[in-house]
Amino acid sequence: MNGEFVPWDEAKVHVLCHSLHYGTAVFEGIRAYETEHGTAVFRNREHLERLRQSARLYYMDLPYQVEKLREVTHELIVRNGLRSCYIRPLVFRGHGPMGLDPTSNPIEVVIGAWEWGAYLGDEGKANGIRAKVSSWRRISPESLIPHAKATAQYLNSVLAKIEVTHAGYEEAILLDDKAHVCEGTGENVFIVRDGRIVTPPQTASILEGVNRRSVIDIARDLGFEIVERDIARAELILADEVFLTGTAAELTPVREVDDRPVGSGEPGPITREVQRAFDAALCGRAERYREWLDFVEVPSRV
Ligand SMILES: Cc1ncc(COP(=O)(O)O)c(C=O)c1O
Repeated sequence: MNGEFVPWDEAKVHVLCHSLHYGTAVFEGIRAYETEHGTAVFRNREHLERLRQSARLYYMDLPYQVEKLREVTHELIVRNGLRSCYIRPLVFRGHGPMGLDPTSNPIEVVIGAWEWGAYLGDEGKANGIRAKVSSWRRISPESLIPHAKATAQYLNSVLAKIEVTHAGYEEAILLDDKAHVCEGTGENVFIVRDGRIVTPPQTASILEGVNRRSVIDIARDLGFEIVERDIARAELILADEVFLTGTAAELTPVREVDDRPVGSGEPGPITREVQRAFDAALCGRAERYREWLDFVEVPSRV
C-alpha cells in the first residue's frame, strides 16, 4: 500500500478519502495460477498496462512504473505464500479537497491478493450458468468511459447483478444504449452461430477484456472463424452456444438465457474445445501460450 507491505488488518484509508465518496478510482482484476513450473500471473503486464490506461483516461498519473507494480505483485504473492490467487490493484484519490475536481487529491496505490475460486462456481464452469438480460443498459460512452475499469462504473454492474441474482439467475447480460448485446457484469460475451464465434467489437461500450483477447487468439489458432460485430438480443436465443470470459469467471458457458435453453441446453462442442485450450493456457499446460504467463520470481530480499 503506497510503497509498503502492510498487514491485512492495517490496510486502511480515511473515511473522507475522495474515491469513497465519488468513485474516483481505477482497478484491475488479475489471476495467478499454480503451474508445474511454479506460480504464474496470467498476462500480468497487459492487466497493469490497462490499469495505467484506465488511470490516464481519468486524469490520473500512475506514480509507479508498470514494471515496479509487476515486481511488487510477485513479492506480495511470495510473502503471502499464495500458490494461486486473485490480485486486485487499485489506484485511488485519497483524502484532500472534497470538491468534484479531484486533480489536487493525492493518488494512492494498493495491491491486494487472496485465494478466490471460480467466480460463477465450479458447477457453472463445468455445466453452464443461467443468465438473464438485465433491464439496465450498459454505461454509454456519452456519459462515462467503457474502455476504463473505473470503480464508479461498477454501480451499473451492481444494479444488473442484484436484479438478476435476486430473480434466481447467476449472471446478467447487459445491452448497450442501442440495444445491442454488450457484456456481462464482469465478463465479455461470445456467441456461436453456424460454426462462427461472434463477439461485440471494442467500439460497443465493452471493457476490452484481456481474456477476450486471449480467447480470440486461441479460437483462431484452433481454426475457428471469429467475427467482431454487433449482436442483436434475439441472437442470444438463436445462438447454438453462448459463453462468457473474464478474469474472475475465466471461460464460463451459458446454458440458458431468459429461461430459454441455449442450443441443447448444455455447453456446446465449440465452447468446450475453446474452454479446454484456454484452461490449458491459464495453467501453463500449453507451450504455445507460455509467453502469457508471468512466472513469479522470489525477490532476493524476501
Ligand atoms: C465489465 C467487464 N467486462 C469485461 C471484463 C473481462 O475483462 P478481463 O478479461 O480483462 O478480466 C471484466 C472483468 O474485468 C469486466 O469487469
